[in-house]
Amino acid sequence: MAKDAQQHRMEKIVSLCKRRGFVFQSSEIYGGLNGFWDYGPMGVELKRNLKDYWWRRMVHEREDMVGMDGSIIMNRAVWRASGHEETFSDPMVDCKTCKSRHRADQLPRKDDVPYCPNCGGRDLTEPRAFNLMFKSHAGPVETDENLVYLRPETAQAMFVQFKNILETSRKKLPFGIAQIGKAFRNEINPRNYTFRSREFEQMEVEYFCRAEDGLALTDYWLEERLKFYEDIGIPRAKIRINDIPDGERAFYSKKTYDLEYDFPFGVSELEGIAYRTDYDLSKHMEHSGKPLEYFDEEKKEKFVPHVVEPSAGVDRTTLALLCEAFDEEEVTDDKGQKEVRTVLRFHPRMAPVKCGVFPLLKNKPALVEKARAIAVALRPHMMTFYDEAGAIGRRYRRQDEIGTPFCVTVDFDTIGENGPEKQDTVTLRHRDSMQQERIPVTELRAHLEAAIF
Ligand code: GAP
Repeated sequence: MAKDAQQHRMEKIVSLCKRRGFVFQSSEIYGGLNGFWDYGPMGVELKRNLKDYWWRRMVHEREDMVGMDGSIIMNRAVWRASGHEETFSDPMVDCKTCKSRHRADQLPRKDDVPYCPNCGGRDLTEPRAFNLMFKSHAGPVETDENLVYLRPETAQAMFVQFKNILETSRKKLPFGIAQIGKAFRNEINPRNYTFRSREFEQMEVEYFCRAEDGLALTDYWLEERLKFYEDIGIPRAKIRINDIPDGERAFYSKKTYDLEYDFPFGVSELEGIAYRTDYDLSKHMEHSGKPLEYFDEEKKEKFVPHVVEPSAGVDRTTLALLCEAFDEEEVTDDKGQKEVRTVLRFHPRMAPVKCGVFPLLKNKPALVEKARAIAVALRPHMMTFYDEAGAIGRRYRRQDEIGTPFCVTVDFDTIGENGPEKQDTVTLRHRDSMQQERIPVTELRAHLEAAIF
């Protein structure tokens, strides 16, 4: 697709996200805050479905994985040991003309000379390192001793708690720790909507293993993660695997794959899968003076485990789900008029609302009563939305725009006005095909559950 068309598509997605309650600018009524976003009623469901499914696949369905939930603020020593305090920085330049700040490695260039994307000026300072960690102070006094950072990744808590988790879970190698949580980076230039934010969520796994298994397990996790994306509706063909070459990886990593998605603003990283060797545990052992080795009972061996880390972004995957699902198609309405139908073709598993329930007419108490009873019966099992406002076609379109895979309509057949054969059956309408089928109310829940989860 041409660049302009892609930009136009992205604008439509952003506008739909606002209109339908997926994403809002943080603090919007005060002019917003660059790099911060709020998820509305639909966005929070979408994000929750993603996180819940990741947890189900990474933790509940596996014997070799346990979860944890670490604190956002940790002892500053953690970030010294991990190297973040010294090196977690991006190169920053100031434009001397308009005083704006930019990442030196993302500046546009003309005739190979970088220029300011704000004013076009070429009078820029030399790049200097800008540490991305947000600072605060723990306690009432703002001194250097109680300086703390908001974590820039969730990973470190899993290394620091390795020994406690090993002892309490009684796991044997290879095994992993999984965590979902907020991370903060004071990005110089937040951009591309929620893609590069200053506050975001990560879903990370630290999978501990023997050194000799590290490389093979990195390939194993690559395959697992590709399957995961497929199972949430992002096909393999849409993901580019970037095998980071020697010299471009972190110095301690023996293999790193970046999984990249073709966003309307360009192919960009969704997740990194890095074989980090024994670097992290060794560093924490060195700095804390505490033993973090593993003892193999059978072989009577003690060693520092190696680790493979699949690290994904919740917000980036949520954005990829929205971009992948967004579609517009020309359809003909009941009166033969052509119109554009906007539809989010989410995988049913990810869809914020699973089922819309409508009475055909809102001024017929028998229809309303039956439809409400169906909605109440479905609610404990799936996110259900009851709607009686407007023509039925309009109600379908509203659900299409938020990606609801199924809609149920209660009509005169349901309440037995056209004879006993169709009594207690409803119309089930499918979002993607717009096909309708008749189904007994008693089979509805099982039918929907089979198609959704
Ligand atoms: N523990 C390894 C780690 O944090 P990373 O590549 O810096 O690695 C992992 O981050 C993932 O976190 C990225 O692939 C991305 O999905 C997400 N992420 C990183 N920075 C982000 C930002 N500023 N905004 C949104 N998501 C971000």
